Amino acid sequence: MALATTREAWTSRVGVILAVTGSAVGLGNFLRFPGKAAQYEGGAFMIPYFIAFLLLGLPIAWAEWSLGRYGGARGFNSAPGIFRVVWRRRAAPYLGALGMLIPVAIYMYYVYIEAWCLGYAVKFATGQMAMGGEKGPYVDFFARFVGLNADGAALDLSNGLLSSAVFFLVVCYVLNFVLIYRGLNKGIEWFCRWAMPALMICAIVVLVRVLTLGTPNPALPEQSLSNGLGFMWNPGVEGRSFWTSLGNAQMWLEATGQIFFSLSVGFGIVLCYASYLRKDDDVALGALTASSGNEFCEVALGGLITIPAAFVFLGAAGTAEACRSTFNLGFMTLPMVFASMPLGQFVGAVFFFLLFLAAVTSSLSMLQPAIALIEEGLGLGRRASVTLLGFVTAVGSGFIVYHSRDARALDTVDFWVGTFCIYVLATIQVLLFGWVLGIERGYHELMRGAEIHVPRFVMYVIKYVSPAYLLAIFGVWIFQQASAEKNNYFAAIARDTVSRLSVGMIALVLIFFLLLIAQSVRRWNAAEKGEHGAIS
Ligand code: ALA
Repeated sequence: MALATTREAWTSRVGVILAVTGSAVGLGNFLRFPGKAAQYEGGAFMIPYFIAFLLLGLPIAWAEWSLGRYGGARGFNSAPGIFRVVWRRRAAPYLGALGMLIPVAIYMYYVYIEAWCLGYAVKFATGQMAMGGEKGPYVDFFARFVGLNADGAALDLSNGLLSSAVFFLVVCYVLNFVLIYRGLNKGIEWFCRWAMPALMICAIVVLVRVLTLGTPNPALPEQSLSNGLGFMWNPGVEGRSFWTSLGNAQMWLEATGQIFFSLSVGFGIVLCYASYLRKDDDVALGALTASSGNEFCEVALGGLITIPAAFVFLGAAGTAEACRSTFNLGFMTLPMVFASMPLGQFVGAVFFFLLFLAAVTSSLSMLQPAIALIEEGLGLGRRASVTLLGFVTAVGSGFIVYHSRDARALDTVDFWVGTFCIYVLATIQVLLFGWVLGIERGYHELMRGAEIHVPRFVMYVIKYVSPAYLLAIFGVWIFQQASAEKNNYFAAIARDTVSRLSVGMIALVLIFFLLLIAQSVRRWNAAEKGEHGAIS
C-alpha cells in the first residue's frame, strides 16, 4: 500500500500519449540524431538504429508501460515502489534508485542546454544575433554565453544579465518547477497539450524553409539541397562499401545509445508516467504511438532539417567537421547557417524556440519520478517535495554551470548517467519484466485493455533477445571505453579533478535517493503491517 497524500491520474488518453511523446521528443531528436546519423553515413546508421528500435526500444517501452501501470494499480508511482511490488525481495526497491538518479542527474545538465536554446531563440528574435554568416562570432559568442573558456566564466554577468546563459537557466528552472508544482494534469499534461502541436508547427515551418533552399550559391552547384540529403542519407563513401560501413562496432553502440536517449526508455520516466494510468487503460497502443511519434519527429523532421541546411552553406567538409560535436553543430554551425539564409533571423528564432519547447517537455518528465518518490515515500505534500527536489537539482546544476570549462562536468555526467546508467536500468527492467513478472503474466498485463494485438513472440524477444543484445552491446562498449586512448572516461577519473568531482556528485545524489528509499520502505512496511494487524 502506498502512502501518497493524493492519487493523481491522467485526464485523457491523448494527454498521456502527448506527455510520453513530449518526454521522448527533445534535443536528442533535432541535434544528437542528425549529427550521429551524418557521422556514420545516415543510410548505414539507420540499420543498427532500427534494429535497436525493434529489439530494444519498442520492447522496453512496452515493458516499462506495463510495469508502470501494474505498479500504479497497486498504489505506487515511483520506480522503488513499483519494483517492490513486482519483485518481493529486500533489494528490489533499492534497484529503483537508478530510476531516480538517471532523470534527476540528466535534468541537472539538460536544463542548462534548454537555457541555451531559450537564450538563442530570444537573441534571434530580438535581432541580437550577429547576421552575416561568419563562423567566428558564433564560436566566441557560444563560448562566452555558456562559459567554455574558464570555470566560473558563465557566472560573470559584467556584460549584462542577458550575456550569460545563467539568466536563462533561472527562467527555465522557474518554468519547470512551476509546472511540476501544478501537478500531473494542470502542469505536465496541460503544457504538453499545447507545446507538442506548437513544436510540430515550428518544425514544419523550418523544414519548409530548408527544403526550399535549392542551391543558394550558384557558384557552388555541388552544394545543393539534394546533395545535402544525399550526404545525410546515402550509405557508403568513396572507397568504402556499405558492408564495410556496417562492420563498424562503434556505430552499433552509438545507434543503440541514441535509441535509448531519444525514446527516454531506461530512464525510469515512462515507468512513472504509466503508473498514473487506470487499471484497464490501454498500454500497448499508447507505447507504440508515443514511440512512433518520437521516431517521426527524429527521422522525418530532425533528419531533414539540420544536416541538409548545414550542407548547402558549408559543403561536405564543413558539415562533416560540424557533426563531430552536437554542441558545435547546434550552437555554432547552425546559427551561422541561419544567418546566411534568406529569412534567417525568423527561421533561427523559430528553430531555437522549437528546441526549447522540445527540451521543456523532456525536462519536466525528468522531475516527476523523484517527486513521486518523495510524496509517496516520505508522505510530503507537493510544496515540500518540490522545494526539496528544487534544492537538490539546483546544487547539481550549479556544479555543472560552475565547472563549465570545455563543458567537462556536463560531459562527464552525461557519460556516466546519460549512457552508462541507462544501460544498467534498461537491463534491470527487461529482466524484471521477462523473468520476474514472467512472460505469461507480462503478456496478460500488456494485453489488458489493449487496443492492438501485440504478437506473442514479442514476449520471447523481451525475455531472451533484448537482455542478450543489451549485455552484448554493453560489454563491447565498456571494453571499448576502458581501452580508448581518447575520451576515456574511466581513466579520466584517476587523472582529472573535475571528472572525479562529477562522479562524486553523482554518488552523492545516488546516496540521497538510497536513504530516501530506505525511509520509504520503512513506512511502506509499517503501513502494511498495520493493515494486516487490523485485518487479523
Ligand atoms: N528523450 C529526450 C531527448 O531526446 C531526453 O532529448
